[in-house]
Amino acid sequence: MRNVPRLLVALLVTVFSIGVATQGQMHPDKPWAFPAKVEKPFPEDPAPRSLPGSTRTYTMAQVDDLANPPDWYPDQHPAPPAVVVKGEGARLACGACHLMSGLGHPESANLAGLSADYILQQIKDFRSGARVDPMRMSGIAKAVTDEQAAEAAKYFASLPRRPFNKVTEAADVPNTILRNGRMRYVAEGGGTEPIGTRVITVPENAERARQRDPFSGFVTYAPVGSLARGKALVETGGGKTLACTICHGGDLKGFGSIPALAGAHPVYTARQMYWFKDGTRNGAMAAQMKLVIAALADEDIVAIAAYLGSIN
Ligand code: HEC
Ligand code: HEC
Repeated sequence: MRNVPRLLVALLVTVFSIGVATQGQMHPDKPWAFPAKVEKPFPEDPAPRSLPGSTRTYTMAQVDDLANPPDWYPDQHPAPPAVVVKGEGARLACGACHLMSGLGHPESANLAGLSADYILQQIKDFRSGARVDPMRMSGIAKAVTDEQAAEAAKYFASLPRRPFNKVTEAADVPNTILRNGRMRYVAEGGGTEPIGTRVITVPENAERARQRDPFSGFVTYAPVGSLARGKALVETGGGKTLACTICHGGDLKGFGSIPALAGAHPVYTARQMYWFKDGTRNGAMAAQMKLVIAALADEDIVAIAAYLGSIN
């Protein structure tokens, strides 16, 4: 116990120096950050698409209409409010990126089962600029009314978190390429490369993920040893930080306005950890995370992100 204040002081000092050094950098070159470019777009395809067990069909142009996203399995979730299914102007439909299931893609976020309070706080932070996502959420949060935000928050908070990522440790990963939907896909030419200190996420089934199938998940590769290292850090802090379970709940499913971490896309978790560090996330509640993150090395962040994505 006597060591705790000293650890906190050390953490605070480090937070301050990191904040000054790197404020607001979005790391576009990192695999967990938003890709700066689409390396190879998929060819246009006007054919109607279907999915197993769905009676609906959509063309790819319809699937990618962010104001009118597909709802493949309307009987698999409660009736969503209008804001989730229909967009207008800058206010794109929440269900397009987060899916009607809330599980989202690695480039967006898993909203299923987050508390409504937490979701509303994030909308506020995106609006005020305390949290920044220039491509997507900053504009959307400004365009949404308080009432729409409240309806969306209530809807996503009511949805169950289902397993959506399979996490596999590997020394080498398939070569990948950035394509539509700001997602990484296995490269057609085959081949592998060393994983390095990265989490690499690809769709389990490229075509189904492109179609925004809420039942087709992702495979995440993480360096060998990540899951054990991540588990130890999450459960005990590993002498470097505080155990995540203290605030995020013993089951890591969130506690009040503190978000669930279990089942988050590893690419999303890693991205947020860096963004607490560099000031992209600076909301009132983010100060607590700046303390937590201060002494973590890249290897720790990657291990934590992989482990959290592997539990549900
Ligand atoms: C065009 C795609 C897109 C649409 C539409 C969209 N989002 Fe997002 N959303 C994102 C992305 C991308 C992120 C991740 C930002 C980041 O990494 O910081 C995100 C993150 C969030 C978060 C933060 C989650 C967390 O765990 O902190 C919330 C809350 C959220 N969105 C709510 C909404 C709501 C409500 C709507 C509808 C009004 C909506 N989003 C519409 C792309 C979208
Ligand atoms: C002292 C309490 C506390 C501890 C300990 C803590 N967190 Fe947090 N965490 C928070 C709070 C509060 C937020 C919400 C921040 C915000 O609203 O900006 C948060 C948010 C996060 C987020 C963003 C989630 C999302 O959906 O966007 C991640 C990722 C995260 N924490 C990871 C961790 C990890 C990993 C650990 C352990 C190494 C940890 N936290 C330990 C309080 C804590």
